[in-house]
Amino acid sequence: MGAQHRRPNLDREDYTVPMGSALGQAFGRYENLTLLGRGGMGEVYRAHDPELGREVAIKVMLDATPEFLARFRREAQVIARLTHPNVVQVYDFGVNGSGKSYFVMELVQGTSLDKVMRERGRLPPTEAVRLARQAAEGLGVAHRAGIVHRDVKPSNLIVDANGHVKIVDFGIARIQDAGQQLTNVAMLMGTPGYMAPEQAMGRTVDQRADIYALGLTLFEMLSGCPPFVADDPISLVVKNAQEPLPSETLRSLGIAEPLVCLIEQMGAKEPDSRPQSCEAVISALDALLVAAEAPTVTPPIPDGARSVSATPFVDLGGSVAVPPSLGRARSSGFLLAMIGVAACVLAAVVVQVARKPSPAPGWC
Ligand SMILES: Nc1ncnc2c1ncn2[C@@H]1O[C@H](COP(=O)(O)OP(=O)(O)O)[C@@H](O)[C@H]1O
Ligand SMILES: [Mg+2]
Repeated sequence: MGAQHRRPNLDREDYTVPMGSALGQAFGRYENLTLLGRGGMGEVYRAHDPELGREVAIKVMLDATPEFLARFRREAQVIARLTHPNVVQVYDFGVNGSGKSYFVMELVQGTSLDKVMRERGRLPPTEAVRLARQAAEGLGVAHRAGIVHRDVKPSNLIVDANGHVKIVDFGIARIQDAGQQLTNVAMLMGTPGYMAPEQAMGRTVDQRADIYALGLTLFEMLSGCPPFVADDPISLVVKNAQEPLPSETLRSLGIAEPLVCLIEQMGAKEPDSRPQSCEAVISALDALLVAAEAPTVTPPIPDGARSVSATPFVDLGGSVAVPPSLGRARSSGFLLAMIGVAACVLAAVVVQVARKPSPAPGWC
């Protein structure tokens, strides 16, 4: 498979704080820490719980500002409210002797989806749809509990050896109708390459922002590359909010038209044009899976989807032609939105600096 299909490596090896900086410290009764991963808010370690005789994951807060501490504590509380096989479980919360906050989670024996894609390139459509469906199940439970994740992306989905998905990282989740609002205008949160336009504009977001990000994640699973890539986070926020989803890339790869249409809807710039709930996304994905298993049957058209003829999934394994450029013509309908985006770009950069301090090889 050509390098063009490989997503940029966004690992945090370029971070200024040394990886594994919490190693050697005690975290409650948990022992034998080994580094599992690192994101914008903290480091995640594998550890042993001698009391209960099981392996666990411990997320340690790296940044100690009061805002981030509050957010970190709340992340643990948010996850603790959710019980679902597709959402990571939280077991415990604590502060160690050095004042570092941490919470203890179930250890997911798997690989984050971004790493899976870096290793394997794009995924076969049926597999991608099944993974997205599980993510939609977990997100649906969060949404029904009034929680919007707001940072759905491949590195926040862990896939185990059986293809089971767990959603992690509710660090910037929004609790709808909560009195306390941790995010203000100056602290726009999210990841530029997956952020729904309304989130980039600093508007209040609902579950449809997660549906947008899941649509972009599904796009990436199918193509091996994020739909929007830019040299810097500012251009990426603008591109994501303004440019249409480059769905011709998916068509050129032979992805079935109903699946492309669903991704176009999920990635619609206007929240009203997207599937309105994860349940709607799940029914649409189920219809596609049924159609994939019986390709001669025309699948039911998902909620509001454009009518298209049934096309079986195409196995995309092996090498294929390089997709056309991701660039597409500007949509004049979003010029006004651009003004809002521009106003928020500075704030977005502030957040990105917090979540990704050093330049990465490509922003997505
Ligand atoms: N419960 C877990 N079990 C195993 N690995 C995990 C777990 N939680 C997170 N990870 C790994 O750690 C990485 C960073 O975790 P995440 O919660 O996304 O942190 P951040 O908020 O810093 O982005 C994930 O991409 C994943 O690889
Ligand atoms: Mg993360």
